[in-house]
Amino acid sequence: MDWKEHAERLRSRLEGERDELRRKARRATKEVRDELDGMEGKWKSFVARLSEVELSEVSEDVRGTAEGLADELRAGYARVRDRLLDTSGGAAESASEPEPGEHAYTMGYGEEFLQLLRRRNADTHAADLLPRLRSGMRVLDFGCGQGTISVGLAKAVEPGELYGIDVEAPQVEAAAAAAKAGGHENTTFQVGDVTDLPFEDGWFDVVHCNAVLMHVPDTDAALAEIERVLKPGGIVSVRELTTASSFMEPDFGNLHGAWLAYAALLTANGGHPQMGKEIAGILHRAGFADVEANGSFELFHTEADRAFFHGFLTQWFFGEDVVAAATKHGIVAAEQFEAWGRSLGAWKEHPGAVAAFAWGGAIGRKK
Ligand SMILES: C[S@@+](CC[C@H](N)C(=O)[O-])C[C@H]1O[C@@H](n2cnc3c(N)ncnc32)[C@H](O)[C@@H]1O
Repeated sequence: MDWKEHAERLRSRLEGERDELRRKARRATKEVRDELDGMEGKWKSFVARLSEVELSEVSEDVRGTAEGLADELRAGYARVRDRLLDTSGGAAESASEPEPGEHAYTMGYGEEFLQLLRRRNADTHAADLLPRLRSGMRVLDFGCGQGTISVGLAKAVEPGELYGIDVEAPQVEAAAAAAKAGGHENTTFQVGDVTDLPFEDGWFDVVHCNAVLMHVPDTDAALAEIERVLKPGGIVSVRELTTASSFMEPDFGNLHGAWLAYAALLTANGGHPQMGKEIAGILHRAGFADVEANGSFELFHTEADRAFFHGFLTQWFFGEDVVAAATKHGIVAAEQFEAWGRSLGAWKEHPGAVAAFAWGGAIGRKK
């Protein structure tokens, strides 16, 4: 095997280890997460060394440093893994099975779901917040995903600043790339968890999210962090789905059941499928002032939309991961997906067919 091939294997193996540990560490103690974060610098030097390998002659020096860094990373990852095992009482871990207290993110990061996110922008998905934004404000978009909403928020507050965070590093990288491509120089994207925000108290004028709190098991922990990082009088704006009001029409006798199964899967993963209609009450109870509810339907109706929605559901909801999770949690048998698949095919061909995500939101102020 030549060196380049060897280096590429090293990189992808270590990257896999790092990502797996990040996923597991998300619910572990802050100490463990900090240790993993601290290794990011070593990871970056390692990757930088490997790109020198691609650019130049492979000198012994470059090889040696890359191998040395790889050893250090391996040892560091082993240390983090040991501590993760300690914090979970020594229980054996598996990459795909959530630990007690650790929940899977229902949507996953498959290309078909990311395509759905890329259709979004601030005009379509933050319309109630936009009129409240002013030039010079500092805004946080948590769970920024692909960053397509974040960049619109960034534009609205120029020359103010937009910070985007997401628990998933590749999402952060994609958002940063989208912002760079659009020339949004007032943006900063970084990995972070809304239940443990990497910002000081009173740092933001506005904290926003779209379709994130519905996936975060501990709503109170997230709201406490949002409140902490907001300035007094600062704006909180949350927008989430209400699965009970989302629909596909015609129903073909069974499509409603697919929404129920999705809601049950969200719940099994620690999520909150009706948060869209509940969020105004939740913000009010958490002590935010001047809470105003908002809501809208996101419709899929034109032939192109129907084809997109059909493709999205076929590849995502009917994909291996969702079917396996629904079966594992005893929500629905695999054969049911086949029946829904037939109805979905008929829905796509039906000229008057409509599908709708029911969005519910609320905007309030820190007292
Ligand atoms: C449904 S996507 C929405 C992305 C984006 N807000 C949008 O609407 O296009 C949810 C995102 O929240 C992120 N996420 C989930 N739990 C999170 C947490 N605890 N803290 C920060 N981000 C989180 C996921 O990684 C994912 O990118």
